[in-house]
Amino acid sequence: MHKIEALEEKLKDALKKKDINIKEVKLTPSNRPDLGDYQYNGALSLAKELKDSPLNIAPKITQIIKDWPEFKEVSIASPGFINLRLSDELLIDFANHSLTNITSNYNLGINKTIFLDYGGPNVAKVLHVGHLRSANIGQALNNLYKAVGAKTISDIHLGDWGRPMGMVILEIKTRYPNLAYFQDDYNGEDVNFNITNEDLLELYPKATAKAKEDECIMEEARQINLELQNKHKGYYALWKKIVQVSLNEIKRLYKDLNVDFDLWEGESDNYEYMNELFTYLYEQKVITTSENAEVIEVKEKTDKKEIPPLILIKSNKAVSYEATDLAAIWERVHKFNLDEICYIVDKRQELHFTQVFRAAKKSHIVKKEKLVFNGFGTMNGPDGKPFKTRDGGVMPLSTLLDKVTEACESRIIKSINQNREAIARIIAVATIKYADLLPFRTTDYNFDIDKFTDLNGKTGPYLLYSCVRMNSLLKKAKEQNINFTNIKVLTSDIERKILITMLDLKKTIKRSYENASLNEICEYLYKIKNLYNNFYAENKILTQKDESIRSSWLALTKLIFDNNKYLLDILGINIPEKM
Ligand code: ARG
Repeated sequence: MHKIEALEEKLKDALKKKDINIKEVKLTPSNRPDLGDYQYNGALSLAKELKDSPLNIAPKITQIIKDWPEFKEVSIASPGFINLRLSDELLIDFANHSLTNITSNYNLGINKTIFLDYGGPNVAKVLHVGHLRSANIGQALNNLYKAVGAKTISDIHLGDWGRPMGMVILEIKTRYPNLAYFQDDYNGEDVNFNITNEDLLELYPKATAKAKEDECIMEEARQINLELQNKHKGYYALWKKIVQVSLNEIKRLYKDLNVDFDLWEGESDNYEYMNELFTYLYEQKVITTSENAEVIEVKEKTDKKEIPPLILIKSNKAVSYEATDLAAIWERVHKFNLDEICYIVDKRQELHFTQVFRAAKKSHIVKKEKLVFNGFGTMNGPDGKPFKTRDGGVMPLSTLLDKVTEACESRIIKSINQNREAIARIIAVATIKYADLLPFRTTDYNFDIDKFTDLNGKTGPYLLYSCVRMNSLLKKAKEQNINFTNIKVLTSDIERKILITMLDLKKTIKRSYENASLNEICEYLYKIKNLYNNFYAENKILTQKDESIRSSWLALTKLIFDNNKYLLDILGINIPEKM
């Protein structure tokens, strides 16, 4: 820890020695930078407590600290604010410390093992925009948790089991009744039947539409699903083929989005633990029967609204989504030594997770493990309605990615000739991720391609552009053999502002971790980029004659670039070579 970070504690102790007892000393970045870097409001709260005037108390405090070497200026402003300006030496020392210890602002010593469940695409359906946020937020939280010191295990939790699968298989069966998979004598041999991702794209909506219209078809799909879950040879082999095709496409898209998992398990893997789980639950005597279904009561006395019982087995004997999640918890706590299992799922599934978490606790499947639901809001189209394609279908994620890539190519990298597509793709991913991570996790937002690909807004392209510029400045310095080591002097207020903002980074990281939301990191990046851009516009860095100033400016650039890169890595955003 750098001594600048201990300043609040030091102040608190010094006040205490003079019998001024304050629970917590908080220095807030000043919104009057002309008066100081920080503001301390202790005199105001103390005045209330002591029924005295803040203007009487403030001098008592400034008396204690006015000669500290940490400050270059200590002053009082009406009605009793204390303004503090940090000494240049202290700021410079902090900056140089950060320059060589990049992780010091991030590693908070969180000594936990956290299991993360995110992504959760359904294999029967094509990966669509509704799956975007879970992947983006989940991956960014995974990266953030690692940065703060935690150990993480991530699992995609594929939706590869359940009625949608029954519907798709039924639709295939209706179209190709003679396929070997559907014959009674099918014995598991390889079948020459090709199915592509485009087929899946077309099959699922047709299949669901039919099933919705006709209860008999729905019943048949249910039946097929039941047989599939009992490993009916033909259905099971076809199912495996579908999963493979779909998974290949999912992997391709997730790779573009810098999303990756330690475990690529699906609901079907959890299903393997179902017998074990049920034996245990019967032993625990938590299962009751209600209207032909097997359920666990999970309501609690303090509930403000009714929490219905968790259904494990539906009246038609199908195993429920809830049961799969309970089996997943069972598997996870038996395989790993976990402190937390954390779900990054659409907030509309909150009730489902309340039920599952309560059932897991009630039956003592979890003991020390904390179960956390980090729900997120919906991404809508620019008009605030669900994001659709022109013909009214749900927008596949690949279509969205392609559209944004196109926009980036035509709007942003007009003058680049080589590698256009790859560069546009990197910028497109940054566009999508930044837009997606900028609102607070639970907030709904509208995805507006025009707005988000604007180079001059609070956007991914804006951030990247200034990173590319910093990077090329540092490269040029290297090419011209301009050596620089650290920051030696501060020549203007803007440099101070940049460093004061750097000082805020650790708290930003801490709050992001506590809120499990990336919004503050996104805002922080925007803020520091703006400051740096002002600094860049005002100074001719490479041609500066004074060697110690030039070295300081380059070191400052490196400090900001390295930290921005670190933060963008957490968000899952890459920086292109050129832009
Ligand atoms: N596949 C589910 C869906 O699309 C999301 C999975 C969320 N994770 C979980 N453990 N249930 O609704």
